[in-house]
Amino acid sequence: MSAPLIELNSGIEIPQLGLGVWQSTPEEAQRAVRFAIDEARYRHIDTAAAYGNESGVGEGIASASVLRTEVFVTTKLWNSDHGYDRALAAIDTSLRALGTDYVDLYLIHWPLQDRDRLLRTWDAMEKILADGKAHSIGVCNFEPHHLQWLIDRGGVLPAVDQVELHPHLQQRELREFAAEHGIAIESWSPLGGTSGSGWGPNSKPNTVLSDPTIGDIAIKLGRSPAQVVLAWHIKLGLIVIPKSVHEDRIKQNIDVFDFELDDEDMARIAALDDGQRVGIHPDEMNLGAPD
Ligand code: A2P
Repeated sequence: MSAPLIELNSGIEIPQLGLGVWQSTPEEAQRAVRFAIDEARYRHIDTAAAYGNESGVGEGIASASVLRTEVFVTTKLWNSDHGYDRALAAIDTSLRALGTDYVDLYLIHWPLQDRDRLLRTWDAMEKILADGKAHSIGVCNFEPHHLQWLIDRGGVLPAVDQVELHPHLQQRELREFAAEHGIAIESWSPLGGTSGSGWGPNSKPNTVLSDPTIGDIAIKLGRSPAQVVLAWHIKLGLIVIPKSVHEDRIKQNIDVFDFELDDEDMARIAALDDGQRVGIHPDEMNLGAPD
């Protein structure tokens, strides 16, 4: 079964579940993307300039048996490309690497701390949208105060905000704020992350998939812990991009639309939120920012 579509505030539809490729080499990404499209009916791939694998993603799509236009492709503007001119150059570099003339969604990867530069980047994002190089534009890792900068500015609102979100970091306040403004939330590290050790200064190892409550629900439903966690995201209406380079897991992760968690399971998972990140807090991120 393929993933259902969700309509963004841009009027464009996005498949609710896609393949994440962070920490995949270009070769791994090429293989995973082709397999996901041809063998597991994925129609949504999420990459970023900073992942260093846009070329592999592009090759994976080109080698699959469907048209480019049938696959929803997201990429992201890296921190060093903030600012008007740099952003316009960055999209062209990404499009060349991907081997395509548009992306379905172009995202600012991190807000950084410089409001004025960020607003100039958003000016460029609007131009990228107007030029047809992206069919929707959005952001990642924006807290409500960053979103408020764009709301106060007027103009195009982000179609999505892609943030760290999983049962240990449920982002309730941000979800409510985004819903009020018609901004869809996408969950990154939806399974709790790729890292065995966490990568932010205050982050902890991923313990979502070994959580006893998740395990308990998985046994009850005859599903894997990853499938239970993905069903939780889906029931909350979130867009979700689990990463895997393993064929069995790629298949398993999209095989989640034929069952649902009940209210009791949802309540048990709601109680697991301890605010624990596997990544960095957006207010602490300035990696690669221009001077
Ligand atoms: P791998 O690529 O080796 O399969 P995220 O939460 O960022 O999507 O990260 C998911 C992490 O969990 C990755 O390290 C991935 O590793 C692993 N993973 C992905 N799908 C599954 C699954 N179905 N069961 C167990 N681990 C998974």
